[in-house]
Amino acid sequence: MFRQLMTATAAVLILLSGNAHAQVNEEAAQALAKKAKCTKCHSVDKKKDGPAYQDVAEKYKGKADAVDKLYTHLTTGPMVEVDGEKEEHEILRASDDEIRNLIGWILSR
Ligand code: HEC
Repeated sequence: MFRQLMTATAAVLILLSGNAHAQVNEEAAQALAKKAKCTKCHSVDKKKDGPAYQDVAEKYKGKADAVDKLYTHLTTGPMVEVDGEKEEHEILRASDDEIRNLIGWILSR
């Protein structure tokens, strides 16, 4: 009985997490954000020089091109404003998989 209950619970949890972000490796994403110094200007829930990841996730919610837009943002160094000064956004140098994992993590905040 206990085992059946556990199996049922596990099945429900898998179903609940069964969305587009289920494949995100949280640890790898956070480690990369730290290594690439993204944390200097971004945090999950507070605006710093850059927007909070929660706000980015909110902005792109339901947008089909979210991943593409962010991929371009993170790999081409578009101009952004930091302290009233225009500068190139940090270019994320990592493998395609790592970049996509980090984007998936940001979008699921
Ligand atoms: C020097 C500060 C700084 C660093 C370092 C930085 N960012 Fe940003 N980031 C910004 C600013 C400022 C914006 C706002 C751009 C705008 O809205 O015009 C931004 C915007 C973003 C956005 C939202 C883009 C959009 O289309 O809305 C994402 C996602 C992002 N940064 C991720 C990262 C990641 C990942 C890293 C690490 C590789 C990083 N940032 C490093 C300052 C920074």
